[in-house]
Amino acid sequence: KREVAVINMNILVTGGLGFIGSHTTIELIKNNHTVIIADNLINSKIGVLDKIVTITGIKPTFYKIDVTDEAKVEEIFNNHKIDGVIHFAGLKAVGESVSKPLEYYYNNLVSTMVLSKMCVKYGVGKFVFSSSATVYGDQPSPLKEDMELKKTTNPYGETKAMSERILTDTSKANEEFAVSLLRYFNPVGAHESGLIGEDPNGIPNNLMPFVTKVAKGQLEKLNVFGNDYDTIDGTGVRDYIHVVDLAKGHVKAIENLNSGVNIYNLGTGTGTSVLELVNTFIKVNKIDVPYEIVGRRPGDIAICFADVSKAEKELGWKAELTIEDMVRDAWNFEKKNI
Ligand code: WQD
Repeated sequence: KREVAVINMNILVTGGLGFIGSHTTIELIKNNHTVIIADNLINSKIGVLDKIVTITGIKPTFYKIDVTDEAKVEEIFNNHKIDGVIHFAGLKAVGESVSKPLEYYYNNLVSTMVLSKMCVKYGVGKFVFSSSATVYGDQPSPLKEDMELKKTTNPYGETKAMSERILTDTSKANEEFAVSLLRYFNPVGAHESGLIGEDPNGIPNNLMPFVTKVAKGQLEKLNVFGNDYDTIDGTGVRDYIHVVDLAKGHVKAIENLNSGVNIYNLGTGTGTSVLELVNTFIKVNKIDVPYEIVGRRPGDIAICFADVSKAEKELGWKAELTIEDMVRDAWNFEKKNI
């Protein structure tokens, strides 16, 4: 792959104090970029800013704003020469989106439209979007970027698919506005320092933070949502990717973003079942995780994993960390912080 000469960019990272946003901020700083963070702290903690300083020695400029607020977002574009935007800020609880659809459509779509409008107005030519494998809907894995998208099972997923369309059409109408749509599979794990990691508010919806809280004794047991799927052990299979690998994928995406609409799966290409993940956690961390097999969770699909060849070929990026790394780092963070 031809190495592109990387110039140091000013990157606006929305949701930059969140789980994936904070890990990406660290990797951007390590690659000598300047990061400006906009975050409303609805699902993140201001303390993460100091952790970023501890890890990198750099304090990113921070704006405590809601990125649906056009006037507040415009101030940032007036105060800084922004070279690119990485847009993480958004509501992301699948179940909650079913009970609060308007909140999800408003937050996730208006934020994307406000940021795109400001990029076009201020001539910012690079926009990287936090999308999700959920946009593929229920179709056979491995999932490939050129597949036709199927309707998702929830408003959260729909906001991701709609945001992709808003960005695609805006890029087609403004050739200097290049976009990269990154479809995440299942992000897990934490920075090796254990200083930052996945720290959701309330009872976790996702598997890994639930497992770490059971291991810690904060939750009594894990409910395994069904073991009657057509998979290796009957439990759901997903493509878990270490959050640090995911963060590095964002750096590669924005450094290689020059024109048009670019879509990439960010996964490992390998499927892992719920019980395989739980048993790896128990083995690596030498700690018990009591669980009970219960009924399926509505909306879940049996198997979901990525075809990852396109990101490797075009971005020169490939996930390197293993399931063992993921369960070790997730537990290391949980022990130290929560
Ligand atoms: C993984 C597996 C569950 C919890 C969702 C969104 C996706 C992204 C990641 C936002 C499944 C099983 C889970 C539990 C369980 N969203 N499970 N007991 O559903 O693959 O993806 O989160 O960031 O867009 O769709 O992730 O972690 O909820 O579930 O058995 O308590 O673990 O059935 O097989 P999912 P998950």
